Amino acid sequence: MDRLEIKRANDMHVHLRQDDMLAQVLPHTIAQCAHALVMPNITPAVLTADDLVAYRQSILALLPDGSTFKPLMTFKVAPTTSPAEISKLKAQGAVAGKLYPEGVTTNSEGGVTDFKALYPVYEAMQEAGLVLCLHGEMPGVFSLDRESKFLAVLRDIASRFADLRIVLEHATTAEAIDCVSELPANVACTLTVHHLYLTLDDVIGDRLNPHAFCKPVAKRPEDRDALVAAALSGNGKFFLGSDSAPHTVANKECACGAAGVYTAPVLMPALLELFEKHCKLELLEAFTSGFAAKFYGLPEHKETIVLVQKSWTVPEQYGDDKSGFSVKPFLAGKTLRWQVG
Ligand code: DOR
Ligand code: ZN
Repeated sequence: MDRLEIKRANDMHVHLRQDDMLAQVLPHTIAQCAHALVMPNITPAVLTADDLVAYRQSILALLPDGSTFKPLMTFKVAPTTSPAEISKLKAQGAVAGKLYPEGVTTNSEGGVTDFKALYPVYEAMQEAGLVLCLHGEMPGVFSLDRESKFLAVLRDIASRFADLRIVLEHATTAEAIDCVSELPANVACTLTVHHLYLTLDDVIGDRLNPHAFCKPVAKRPEDRDALVAAALSGNGKFFLGSDSAPHTVANKECACGAAGVYTAPVLMPALLELFEKHCKLELLEAFTSGFAAKFYGLPEHKETIVLVQKSWTVPEQYGDDKSGFSVKPFLAGKTLRWQVG
């Protein structure tokens, strides 16, 4: 087989950023995706219905004529979020709210520390049919244990709000996979491309690799294996959310480097290679589009992309240094077997 036609992806977790960076990175997502769930941690964050409308408009303004790509908009669930704002957000087309615990990742300052104080907000989201997306890391805990310690919060919310759809974002541990598997059908989990490839050794095992540094950090080989097994399992609770998170090369290669791996350019080629290696190609389309469509209740799209078996070397970076918006993609300099045709 040297050609694969497959439904466009639903990438249920992507950082498209804003302004010049948005213009730089958007083409990679729209080239491969039908829908993408757009994260709200821009500056200032998407907190209100007005913010959401303005951010969506800035994305739509950059779509080429005839593009069928649909951004699915989110807002930040913050300590200040009110149930009244939830209905306004829903009325303006919000699909999900993203909860960032305080300080655990990029632009999460002013995040949540008291998860129970937000019960009225979860209640309003449940009523409105909005999805609650969780960055599952507990602030203030040793970094490798943050996800594990957060699982009690996930269990608590899931048990109290049985009709609220909840997504544990970018799982990194075998323990998280087991937890999501055991919880009822209203709880799902996104898996990123980079966490299916990386372990902590790729970040700090040899010389420091800032381009593999992300939150939550990649964990042990057996954790990575559990994520791969979940992706290949055909279990509809586990679907693609790339967490493609571009930062400029200057902001990655410095003394205080930002967390995030920019996977959008290699999204489908990297996943195809992985599923092919494990002889599970027949499950790729469900993982990259069908399972998310079912969980989120998205319209079933017909649009496809073609991947061709033609090796290519992933560019070292996109954008030029002078513009200040150069970004290094995941797998930069590596040769991949498949490319988007
Ligand atoms: O590594 C990450 N980068 N993890 C996140 O949760 C946020 C993201 C970003 O926005 O840069
Ligand atoms: Zn993210």
